[in-house]
This record gives sequence, structure tokens and C-alpha cells, in this order.
Amino acid sequence: MKDLHRSLVVSSVLCVASLSGAAAVPSLPSNAQIRRGEYIVKANGCADCHAPWRMGAQGPEPDLSRGLVGHPQEMAMPQPPKLEGPWLWLGAATNTAFAGPWGVSYASNLTPDPETGIGKWRPEDFIKALRTGKHAGVGRPLMPPMPWPAYRNYSDGDLKAIYYYLFSRPAVKNRVPEYQPPGGAR
Ligand code: HEC
Repeated sequence: MKDLHRSLVVSSVLCVASLSGAAAVPSLPSNAQIRRGEYIVKANGCADCHAPWRMGAQGPEPDLSRGLVGHPQEMAMPQPPKLEGPWLWLGAATNTAFAGPWGVSYASNLTPDPETGIGKWRPEDFIKALRTGKHAGVGRPLMPPMPWPAYRNYSDGDLKAIYYYLFSRPAVKNRVPEYQPPGGAR
């Protein structure tokens, strides 16, 4: 009887895990993991690029009221001016759009919204993205200034903690524009 009860609990956890698109082997985050993720995200300034800046009392600062939504969808950027000489790259006033020899990159939506954020990512997709510098862990190379070559040094446990913290925050719909390769529409 005990065994039956145990297998029912395990199968319901597996069922929830597969419904939510989480890893096949369930590993539910602990509060300690979420707090560790929060600590890393805050100490590392992920919001510096992944939340749009606004003018605050002390000068420009990331606007955290909407969360780590990335470049605001309502803010269409014009083509960047041609850059010459030692001035090689530019950032938008929001610090969420960047132009340089790599083209134009937009800080992505790191909230768990399934359509416009990372809501469909599994922890292993997130770890792979930051380890390999590939979009969603498998796609095109991630462009500057996303500092993934520094973040790849985190342990799996720390990267997972970041993921769990991001998933503990509200999902916000914000469709960030597509990356534009150099020469594209310029
Ligand atoms: C200096 C600016 C900057 C900082 C700081 C930064 N990012 Fe990014 N991040 C970007 C930009 C720009 C992109 C989009 C790159 C692209 O589209 O090629 C990006 C992309 C990403 C992606 C990939 C999304 C995808 O669709 O594949 C993840 C995940 C990510 N950042 C997480 C983080 C985390 C977590 C932190 C903090 C630990 C962080 N970023 C700090 C600028 C930054």
C-alpha cells in the first residue's frame, strides 16, 4: 500500500513536470535556489541591459517596474548612424538596443512569458544558452554586449538558480525585435 501511494505521488509530479514543459526528471526549485538566483541576477546587473532605463532621482536607472522585459516592443529604433573611427558601437537611451560591427542586438525578454519570453525554455536550454552563447541554447550565436563569455564560468547549479529565479517572477508579454545582422537593412 505504501509503495502504491509513493508511486502515485511520483507519477503526479512527473505529470505536472511534463505539462509545464519542465525537465523530464522533475527537480522542483527550493527557496534557497531561487534566493541564490536573485542574488546573482541583482549583483550581476542583468537589469542594466534587460530592463529599459528611465530617468530617476539620481539620474538614469533601469526601470524595474515591468521586470526583465528586454527592449520595449513599443520603441521602434531607426537605423543606426554609420560609425567611424574609434567610436565603434552605440547604445539606445534605454540601454536595451545596441548597434556595432555585429549589427543591431536587442536585450531579450527574460520573463517566463511562453510567447515572448523564456517561458518554454527548460533549465538545460538556459544553461546551454549561457554556456555556448547560442540563441535558446541551439540557434544563432548571441551578439554583444551580452556577456555570456563571462557567465559561462558559472556552475550548472548557479545557472539553474538564475533560471529558477527568473521563472519565479511574473510573465510579461513584450515582443523584442529580431536581431539585425550587419549590412541588412542599413
Ligand atoms: C551589457 C548588457 C547585458 C547584460 C549585463 C546582460 N545581458 Fe543578456 N543579453 C544582452 C543582449 C543585447 C542580448 C541579445 C543578444 C542577441 O540577440 O544576439 C542578451 C541575451 C540574453 C539571453 C539569450 C536570449 C535568447 O533568446 O537566446 C539570455 C538567456 C540572457 N541574455 C541572460 C542574461 C542574464 C541572466 C544576465 C545577468 C546574469 C544578462 N543576460 C546580462 C545584453 C546583456
